[in-house]
Amino acid sequence: MKTIGVIGAGQMGAGIAQVSAAAGYRVLLSDVSRERAEAGKAGIAKGLDRLVAKEKITAEARDATLAGIEPVDDVTAMAPCELVIEAATEREEIKRKIFGAVGAVMGADAILASNTSSIPITRLAQAAPDPARFMGVHFFNPVPVMGLIELIRGLATADATVAAVEAFGRSLGKEIVHANDAPGFIVNRVLLPFINEACFALGEGVATIRDIDTAVKLGLNHPMGPLTLADFIGLDTCLEICRVLFEGTGDPKFRPAPLLVKYVEAGWYGRKTGRGFYDYSGAEPVPTR
Ligand code: 3HC
Repeated sequence: MKTIGVIGAGQMGAGIAQVSAAAGYRVLLSDVSRERAEAGKAGIAKGLDRLVAKEKITAEARDATLAGIEPVDDVTAMAPCELVIEAATEREEIKRKIFGAVGAVMGADAILASNTSSIPITRLAQAAPDPARFMGVHFFNPVPVMGLIELIRGLATADATVAAVEAFGRSLGKEIVHANDAPGFIVNRVLLPFINEACFALGEGVATIRDIDTAVKLGLNHPMGPLTLADFIGLDTCLEICRVLFEGTGDPKFRPAPLLVKYVEAGWYGRKTGRGFYDYSGAEPVPTR
């Protein structure tokens, strides 16, 4: 595999493009417009500059990674790709549209993979050019730092597809785990009840935001407390995954915490909107209750 396509130049897509180019792949990067794809590449350049300043990578390595990333006008440029990874907005109708457009140009042996965190792979496969050459490839944020990729096969995914995507993932230096196409796969199945429970605890007045986060961070040696992590992921995304778990299993243990629902209804989505459980308008995040 030499050329890969990444659809979506946001946080996840940019991270996937970065680690792929750093591993020596030629990466075609698309978004809703060429400008957005260019902006994604500019963000990658900034991040790489920081790594050069910290002497984590050389200036030559930065330049080589950037040279490997080609922003393109749209997904019709993905014809030469052996693997296309879709990391667009987590909305099924958007992904379906993209699959139709890219499917029309992809080669007969090319593989399409989705970075979805919550949409069932077997259902999404219905919009893919060939369900046998379609699967889930779930990266974690921040992609350059996190060592894991979850691979999810749909009902129709071929063994050869799984083997090829696994080899690609390992070539990025990531550890691979395999999950069945069940709601939340592995990580989000375990993570979201944890975050959701922190929201219940906050809503029930068990402790303050700061104390819940400090308790988990220091008491469990996690890099971030659950409410900080929720803000980092996005409260809208957390709620969406909770709903997928709740509706997909029918199990009331996954019901979303009312406080999480309220924050999302208020438009307080976390870091990306400047306010979630913390206020990010100042130099340091400040707990909002
Ligand atoms: N690119 C490259 N390197 C980066 C980076 C980036 N975007 N962001 C951070 N780093 C590196 C830093 O250079 C630093 O490297 P060093 O230790 O070698 O100097 C290291 O990562 C730590 O970064 P910082 O010192 O800036 O900050 P922290 O120590 O606070 O770490 C963090 C930040 C890595 C985000 C850490 O807090 C963490 O691991 N948090 C948990 C993240 C997590 O759980 N992610 C999964 C979310 S769930 C998900 O993605 C699934 C989805 O479906 C919901």
